[in-house]
Amino acid sequence: MGMILKGPKGTQDVLPKDSYKWKFVENTILNIASTFHFKEIRIPTFEHTDLFCRSVGDTSDVVEKEMYTFEDKSSRLITLRPEGTAGTLRSVIEHGLLNGLLPLKLFYILSCFRYENLQTGRLREFHQFGAELLGPASPEADFEVIKMGCEIFKALGITNFLLEINSIGCSKCSHKYKKQLMDYMSARKDTICPTCLERLEKNPMRILDCKDKGCQNVVTTTPIILDSICDECKEHLEFLKNYLNADNIEYIVNPKIVRGLDYYVKTVFEFIVELNGSKLTVCGGGRYDNLINELGGPKTSAVGFAIGLERIVMILDELSNIKDTNCDLYIAVIDNDGWIKSIPMVNRLRSQGYIIEIDLMNRSLKSQMKYANKIGAKYSMVIGSNEIETGRAKIKNMSTSEEQEVDMLTFSLMKIN
Ligand code: HAM
Repeated sequence: MGMILKGPKGTQDVLPKDSYKWKFVENTILNIASTFHFKEIRIPTFEHTDLFCRSVGDTSDVVEKEMYTFEDKSSRLITLRPEGTAGTLRSVIEHGLLNGLLPLKLFYILSCFRYENLQTGRLREFHQFGAELLGPASPEADFEVIKMGCEIFKALGITNFLLEINSIGCSKCSHKYKKQLMDYMSARKDTICPTCLERLEKNPMRILDCKDKGCQNVVTTTPIILDSICDECKEHLEFLKNYLNADNIEYIVNPKIVRGLDYYVKTVFEFIVELNGSKLTVCGGGRYDNLINELGGPKTSAVGFAIGLERIVMILDELSNIKDTNCDLYIAVIDNDGWIKSIPMVNRLRSQGYIIEIDLMNRSLKSQMKYANKIGAKYSMVIGSNEIETGRAKIKNMSTSEEQEVDMLTFSLMKIN
């Protein structure tokens, strides 16, 4: 097969046999988002490269290694968005939305692009649902977005998720921990992996979630960030925990969660689901109180998260508790007079919301009925010369083979057994 007949590595087609799952996931999520009164924002697929360097961060893997960056025909440096937060903030600042009513509660569903090493649950084009709550600095806001995440998983029928939270401190206190960590790691340089060795100066915290065995060994004994954050950050986390406890939301505090993007302060969190023995992070988020200001907007606190939709669909595939919609009525016709006679009936039933199919392949009656069976039609009807003449036809229940005669122009599918 030629190269162009194969999608690029890391991309995925959603075929018709699977697309109902996506629709279910998106509709379910949109419903929950609207009960929290979040409003949708739609942003471009590409932005100036600089935006991501300044937000996601120069020292993150995403910016260092994974961005799809190119020069356009006018030599502008452009990047396909690796995530949704940066573009959302660019848009919010550009359109002055922070001068209006606060809090600003936004959500998006969009494609993201990261040049990742491929493994389970990792793609180069993937999709996120993201929510951003701009304005409040309060732990209530952290609770509100985490709560929305929980509600989304519940509504999707995913109950076995694990919520992990942490605080990575604020700009006032996190440098103290970074310094401590750097000293600790520097004394153990021979045990940590080459990537972390490189990160040591710029972003020592990333070592905490490195998958390398050597690094993980070192990490078991490293100083814990929660011991060195300031009182304000500690109190913030305590309040969040109080809210989660009050609402009986189960969670663990995992001091090793640092997140892969550079903009977080204070609260960070992840939702994890175990799938076929491996742990899959299906949602990640946290607070980013300095980012809006750093990007040139007014000083505004914010917190948000994003859910990876491919991972959700993978999990639902395992649970297999959602079903595709089926054809309600298949209409078999023997000639074009039958087709014409059926038009008003088809129009009426479709306008009532029923899923109707009628032969489009000029097949024999026998093959039409075979087809109706294969597509799982609930009912079928044959329009022959008698039906054309009288305007009455037999409607057949495909699973019981029961038949009932009806008037083609007036019958109600609701009243058929
Ligand atoms: P993130 O942790 O980079 O955060 O991505 C969020 C989720 O997107 C992940 O938990 C995962 O489910 C999914 N995801 C990430 N990379 C891939 C990939 N290569 N293939 C498939 N799924 C993937 C963010 O993007 C932040 N913008 C979240 C946020 C919003 N924080 C505050 N507001």
